[in-house]
Amino acid sequence: MSREQVEPELTSSVTAPVVIVGAGHSGVAVAAGLRARGWEGGILLLEAEKGTPYERPPLSKELLKDGAPDESAVLRKEKFYQDKRIDRVAGIAVDSIDRSGRTVLLSDGSRHAYHRLVIATGSRARPLTVPGAGLSGVQALRTKDDALELKRLLVAGARVAIIGAGYIGLEVAAAAAARGCDVTVLEFQDRVMSRVTSAPVSRHFEELHERHGVRFVFSAAVTAIEGRERAERVVTADGAVFHADVVLAGIGVIPNQELAAEAGLECRDGILVDADGLTSDPAIYATGDVTRFTSPIDGASQRLECIQNAQAQADRVAAHITVQKAAVPEIPWFWTVQHGVRLQTAGVRHPDDEVIVRGDPATGGFSVVYLRDGRLAAVDTVAGLTDFRPARKLIAQGARINPALAADPGIPLSEAVLTGAIPDAPAPTHADLATARI
Ligand code: APR
Repeated sequence: MSREQVEPELTSSVTAPVVIVGAGHSGVAVAAGLRARGWEGGILLLEAEKGTPYERPPLSKELLKDGAPDESAVLRKEKFYQDKRIDRVAGIAVDSIDRSGRTVLLSDGSRHAYHRLVIATGSRARPLTVPGAGLSGVQALRTKDDALELKRLLVAGARVAIIGAGYIGLEVAAAAAARGCDVTVLEFQDRVMSRVTSAPVSRHFEELHERHGVRFVFSAAVTAIEGRERAERVVTADGAVFHADVVLAGIGVIPNQELAAEAGLECRDGILVDADGLTSDPAIYATGDVTRFTSPIDGASQRLECIQNAQAQADRVAAHITVQKAAVPEIPWFWTVQHGVRLQTAGVRHPDDEVIVRGDPATGGFSVVYLRDGRLAAVDTVAGLTDFRPARKLIAQGARINPALAADPGIPLSEAVLTGAIPDAPAPTHADLATARI
């Protein structure tokens, strides 16, 4: 992915616009970022879905509420696109990229030339592949249409089986329970949100859901959905049968990388990009959920499914296209709200991090601190954000943390920082602890 050899070629064809494929958070943010950074050339935003580009987080939360309008907040009002001269084609998919001719071909046969191409195609819900997955009443949740269909199905008294206890499954469980549905969550692992959080946080949310009448079945491997025309039953590998009128599969997402892969761009569970969002083609960028890149924080290869990354990466792409300096990379953060309780995470936790609980989960509000080799790697905050801001700063600094001080919620996180030599600092001394407490 060396750019030096090809840079001169990039000055060609400036009459063509920057073409952005995908009008999700990241694609729209690239368009807005280009104008904010003074890009005077054309911008063409292509999107397979019809309508004004919209926010995704409300689809599994506010939009599902009883009586809520059937609209998700738009990312930008129509007037914004007009004022900023951002041309849009909505409702027609991009079928292929001609890299040598620098054009994209749309499914209606039209072709658009690009000066730079930005692939912001996001991810799609991982499809359930068991027999019966195609029955009516079996839903995924990714698009506004998915959310509206699900909302129609979540009537009081409906038996709702949710496959997967991740963010999506649990947010829908909360919405369905609030609407008076009978909710059972079937999860492959032995606890909720195991991909993103630790056992103490999982336990807390399991109890929260159970208080609202949600049932959990863990270590559940769904083998079939049964029913004549509509879903009627979910069957698991141990032979258990769960009666259901509605089945929601919230079993993760997969990156929409096919367009890039078919054009010969390097992909590996995501389109590979560098720190500027450049793919293996120097005229093509990618941004958002669809990308895989090296973390500037810890050097890990990662694909981040969060709005913070969608926006930050978009800004780096806009900066690079306009030959400007990008903002300093931020610590990624994530959030979910279930039954009105907010879980907010700074940083990316690893399963083998040291886990320190700050505060008593029984009080409803607490944090969990994750240490990797003694350094702050991530923090979960439940129903309170006091630790969130300092955590992002300390994670970015690679701060070494005294575990005993971090476990005391009465001591600000910033005062649990160990001073002294890095990386081979000796075990904390009394002097260290005294300094850390000041
Ligand atoms: N049966 C039961 N559970 C399963 C199965 C299966 N066949 N396959 C996967 N799971 C479970 C996983 O163990 C995991 O707990 O489904 C859960 C999926 O959780 P996530 O990976 O967090 O995915 P999801 O909840 O679908 O959210 C996808 O949407 O909210 C956005 O960007 C956010 O990353 C998030 C994305």
